[in-house]
Amino acid sequence: MADGADRLRHFVCCLTRLCDAGADEQAIRDEGGAALRVLVADDDWLMEEFAATDPTQYRQYLLHCDPLERFSVVSFVWGPGQQTPVHDHTVWGLIGMLRGAEISRSYVRDAAGRLVAGAEERLLPGMVTAVSPQIGDIHLVANALADRASISIHAYGGNIGAMARHVFVPESGEVKPFVSGYANRFLPNLWDRAEAVRAGLGV
Ligand code: FE2
Repeated sequence: MADGADRLRHFVCCLTRLCDAGADEQAIRDEGGAALRVLVADDDWLMEEFAATDPTQYRQYLLHCDPLERFSVVSFVWGPGQQTPVHDHTVWGLIGMLRGAEISRSYVRDAAGRLVAGAEERLLPGMVTAVSPQIGDIHLVANALADRASISIHAYGGNIGAMARHVFVPESGEVKPFVSGYANRFLPNLWDRAEAVRAGLGV
C-alpha cells in the first residue's frame, strides 16, 4: 500500500508524456494501455477512500486530472449487482480491471439507426480494454458479481466527470444529456515524495 501513490504517479506521468509528445489515439491506446496493464497487474495499491462502495449506486472517484484536462484517471467502484445505463464517452477511454469482474456490453446502430446490443466482454483482474468513437463508444457496464464489489481503473481523453456525454434508452431510442461528475471532493496525494528523498539523503 505504501507505494500506491508511486504506482499511480507513474501511470499519470506516462499519460502526460504521451500527451506532451502529441501521441495519436492509437498510440495512447497502445502505450497507455500497456502502462495501465502494469498498474492493474497488482491489487494492493488503491487507497481505501477510493475503493469504497455506495449501496445506492456505482461510484466514480477522480484519482487525477491533467491540469490541461487532456486526460483523467478514475476508479470505478461497483457494489454487488450495480450497473451503468447505456452511455457514451466521446473521447478515448482505457479500462483496466483491478478487482472482481465486470461485464461490458457494446451497442451498435443497425441499418435503421437503432441501437442494438452487440458483443459482451467479461473483464477479469489484470485485463485492459478500450472504448472511443473510433472503435466503439457506446456500452453498458455491470458488476459481474452479485455478492461483492468490483473495481476498475479508467483513463479518458478529457476531464471525464465534467464532459457533456449521452445516456441512451435503446428500447425507445431516447437520448439524454449526461455529465457523470465525481463521488469525491479530495484527490489522492501523489506528490508526497519526502520518504524517497530522505532515503536518498540517508536521513
Ligand atoms: Fe463507459
